[in-house]
Amino acid sequence: MQLTPEEQAMYDGKHGIAIEKSMEILVALGDIYGAENMVDITSAQISGVSYKTIGEAGLEYLDELAASGVKVKVPSTLNPAGIDLERWEDLKFSKQFAEKQNKIIAAYQKMGISTTCTCTPYLVGNVPIMGSHIAWSESSAVCYANSVLGARTNREGGPGALAAAICGKTAAYGYHLDEGRKAKYVFELEIPLKGVDYGALGYIVGKIVGGGVPYFKLKNIPSINELKSLGAALASSGAVALYHVEGVTPEYEEALKSEDMELIERISVTEDDVMDARKKLSTTAQKPDLICIGCPHASLDEIEKIAEKISGRKLSTPFWVCTSIPVKAAADRMGYTKTIENAGGKLICDTCMVVSPIEDLGFKVIGVDSAKAANYVPTMCGLDVVYDEFEDLIE
Ligand code: F3S
Repeated sequence: MQLTPEEQAMYDGKHGIAIEKSMEILVALGDIYGAENMVDITSAQISGVSYKTIGEAGLEYLDELAASGVKVKVPSTLNPAGIDLERWEDLKFSKQFAEKQNKIIAAYQKMGISTTCTCTPYLVGNVPIMGSHIAWSESSAVCYANSVLGARTNREGGPGALAAAICGKTAAYGYHLDEGRKAKYVFELEIPLKGVDYGALGYIVGKIVGGGVPYFKLKNIPSINELKSLGAALASSGAVALYHVEGVTPEYEEALKSEDMELIERISVTEDDVMDARKKLSTTAQKPDLICIGCPHASLDEIEKIAEKISGRKLSTPFWVCTSIPVKAAADRMGYTKTIENAGGKLICDTCMVVSPIEDLGFKVIGVDSAKAANYVPTMCGLDVVYDEFEDLIE
């Protein structure tokens, strides 16, 4: 890779050991993927936060880095942790887990990273502008940033995103380059979609394209919340980091301009395909013993719809809505939190049904309206899932 004099000095250790090690990671990634140079980034979003996923080795790595006194160079936010950092006791998470989790959060905080702990940073102030280079690592947020906002990021791993945040740079390859953003597949929908159909579509298409870039011709205009669900599903059943929707996402017109148009694969998606995927995403027909909404973390208007649905009713099953601290603050002010709590539900912050040790709380079947959660809960938590619209789960 061609480094500028400033980058070379960072790489040579002239700015301290933490920056040197971080540049080594970035240069190694650049070499592997054939990058010619670095680009400056405007923000980072860092995964590898839950003690459940990074364990003792991750905690030691972060402690060491934080002890060096290094600080991030760009605005940076964290992915969800393993617990609600304020209400973990109420939710019955263990003290030992909470202690480890708090040490991880403290290490990130020491490095100047905002401990918002959410997978929807774009709902709470980490909003990159179109064309800007960023280093994000939560796969659903990567998909949203590339596709809906038109920012440019690869699917960074946690250490790669942290190294980029520390250096303020990342290697220019993949989705940072125009060529990496062209569509390789066109999916034409035969029917209009709504609600959990978008997750089912993402589940089908992710399996077909793997890490490719799909282009959708939809029969209707999706909402922002539906785009967030679609991206999360694409990123979890495949390794999608970018998709285009004709007439909707900002780069769709450029996406199909390629010299190799005949290499683009065209695929129809039928009603049966969508219904079949919806069925496959449930692993059981049993009644859930926990309903958990908010994957990716719920937006204020999703919480409003939930509050409307359960206002004045009493829920017979534990009911959680996962979101971020800033969105919950707005929901508190709007009265939605009170409505949900009066019905027996809970607004949970900082964590989710996948990265928390939910399997230790005695639940066996979780009801979700997220294809990503339906995909991950059985493998990461060992529980069964029921995939359905949140209204039907509530009923
Ligand atoms: Fe977010 Fe957890 Fe889903 S991190 S995207 S709520 S699996």
